[in-house]
Amino acid sequence: MIMEVIAKRRSIRQYKPDPVSAELIHQLLEAACMAPSAGNLQPWFFYVIENPRLKRELSRVAVSGKIIENAPVTILVCALPEQSASRYGERGAWLYCLQDTAAAVQNMLLAATALGLATCWIGAFSEEEVAAILDLPLEQRPVAMVTVGYGAEEAQAPVKKPPVAVSRWLK
Ligand SMILES: Cc1cc2nc3c(=O)[nH]c(=O)nc-3n(C[C@H](O)[C@H](O)[C@H](O)COP(=O)(O)O)c2cc1C
Repeated sequence: MIMEVIAKRRSIRQYKPDPVSAELIHQLLEAACMAPSAGNLQPWFFYVIENPRLKRELSRVAVSGKIIENAPVTILVCALPEQSASRYGERGAWLYCLQDTAAAVQNMLLAATALGLATCWIGAFSEEEVAAILDLPLEQRPVAMVTVGYGAEEAQAPVKKPPVAVSRWLK
């Protein structure tokens, strides 16, 4: 049931050394590619990073670098602002492509939870340095990393604001 998966998902920052199969990673990418996107433009590109040297280099340019180094796999999510701008102009470039990639990330996180995998969404990193390490084409903006592995910690559920505190019904 989807509500159980949503409730079960946690940001996990400690991983077992066990590898994650290519089949499972494919399923995460499939989930990402099924996300909604403005005009169905799908302005995203994903890098599956298992190479220890690259993970080490990426970990040095992220605030939570240890998590990247520790996880067997990191998936870098890139937005393609020009693709969104080609149809939606400025709004596509600064808003839609980021919303689209965020939806793709969330799909991945939920699919991973359902598949028994642990993840953490990493957003605090230098985009310029990530682009340089991976020699990204100019049109790809690195916007998120998702660490993936088998969890080695039982994360406490953080306090979430209840719907009543953050919503208002206008009938
Ligand atoms: C846009 C975004 C960026 C994030 N960046 C980081 C990060 O750089 N490092 C980290 O450890 N967690 C990061 N997180 C995870 C949050 O800290 C986490 O989602 C939050 O504490 C709530 O915990 P939960 O995911 O278990 O519900 C990020 C989450 C989001 C949505």
